[in-house]
Amino acid sequence: METKQIRKDFPILDQKVNGYPLVYLDNAATTQKPVQVLERLLSYYKSENSNIHRGVHHLSQEATDAYEDARSYVAGFMGADSNHTVLFTKGTTESINLVANGFRSLLKARDHVVATLSDHHSNFVPWQQACLYSGALFHALPLLPDGGLDLEQLGRLLTLEPKILVLPHISNVIGRINPVKEIIRMAHCHGTAVLVDGAQAIAHLPVSVSDLNADFYCWSGHKAYGPTGIGVLCAKTSWLEKLPPYQFGGEMIEEVTVEKTTFAPLPFKFEAGTPPIAEALAMKTALQYIKGIGFESLMQHGQDLCRYAFARLMEIPGMEIYGSDQDRCGLVSFNVKGAYHYDVGVILDQMGIAVRTGHHCAQPLMDFLGIPGSVRCSFAVYNTRQEVDRLVEAVGKAARMLR
Ligand SMILES: Cc1ncc(COP(=O)(O)O)c(C=O)c1O
Repeated sequence: METKQIRKDFPILDQKVNGYPLVYLDNAATTQKPVQVLERLLSYYKSENSNIHRGVHHLSQEATDAYEDARSYVAGFMGADSNHTVLFTKGTTESINLVANGFRSLLKARDHVVATLSDHHSNFVPWQQACLYSGALFHALPLLPDGGLDLEQLGRLLTLEPKILVLPHISNVIGRINPVKEIIRMAHCHGTAVLVDGAQAIAHLPVSVSDLNADFYCWSGHKAYGPTGIGVLCAKTSWLEKLPPYQFGGEMIEEVTVEKTTFAPLPFKFEAGTPPIAEALAMKTALQYIKGIGFESLMQHGQDLCRYAFARLMEIPGMEIYGSDQDRCGLVSFNVKGAYHYDVGVILDQMGIAVRTGHHCAQPLMDFLGIPGSVRCSFAVYNTRQEVDRLVEAVGKAARMLR
């Protein structure tokens, strides 16, 4: 992959932080945006801006067409059966809340819901709350020592015939690619629906919701080179028909009278109010950017950097990396004995290196690992082995300073 060429598309990388060339390794939190995405946002506001779906005038119709074209592009990108199965949301968190909120009214007391210990809070708390609300029982699937999900334990939990199983495609702490297709097949044998949180997968792996047979698949545009404020929920038609609307307001109605309201057909029933129009168009540009590079190169690059970082970090005395180097993509989380993760992050920043520290919105996983937090480096298309070398050198230095 021509990383040197690709870096030219990301002018933000070309700056110094604290006197050092910036090394941006916080891509699991949000990726940087290529100029193509920035230009798409600007061109929309410069010459196309208008509200959609309700205008008879030229600009409104053009903006509506562009927004619906973005939906159609996302559907193709994700291998969805049809455009109406793609909902635009604010991001992964809103996508999951939309589903969990709908399940509140479908769950009954003593039904079962299964999440995993590697879920981000945004796929943990909404389900815990849905269970509190409905009286359903909440279970959290444990992990094996290598960071994989405990599939034997899952088999046992599935005999309870849970109403839904939710899991991350790639954990934002362990970086493990979970075998979601196999897990979905197992769950469906017990009549259990499956929601996959694809926030950490969408920029690294090709995803086909029809091939996975996922009931729900969610992700955020900003973690895949797109803008903030836009995300996707792709769901089976049968589920979208069954779930009640998440929010009420303009655009999601068919008819409103004093007596009652009827709702618009899919997908509009779930898109109340003015949607993130510019963001949808720019997210399409981001996906085109990803497609232009190609998933084969992207996966190879992501896995190569992970393997390299894993091996080089292990050279540091007292290094502990969470999860094995198997089936890992995009990120590595670690601690160095005797050095508090936050302090390591501050020292790395002083050397121009951006990483994330803390519990990574995964406190149940931190409890399971028996740590308060970790340092996480995460990779994108523009990162290089030389940047990993700078990270390793800086972590070694920080560890020596802190011990
Ligand atoms: C696995 C995972 N799920 C969900 C989220 C939440 O994404 P957002 O804040 O874009 O809604 C994140 C964010 O880091 C994540 O890593």
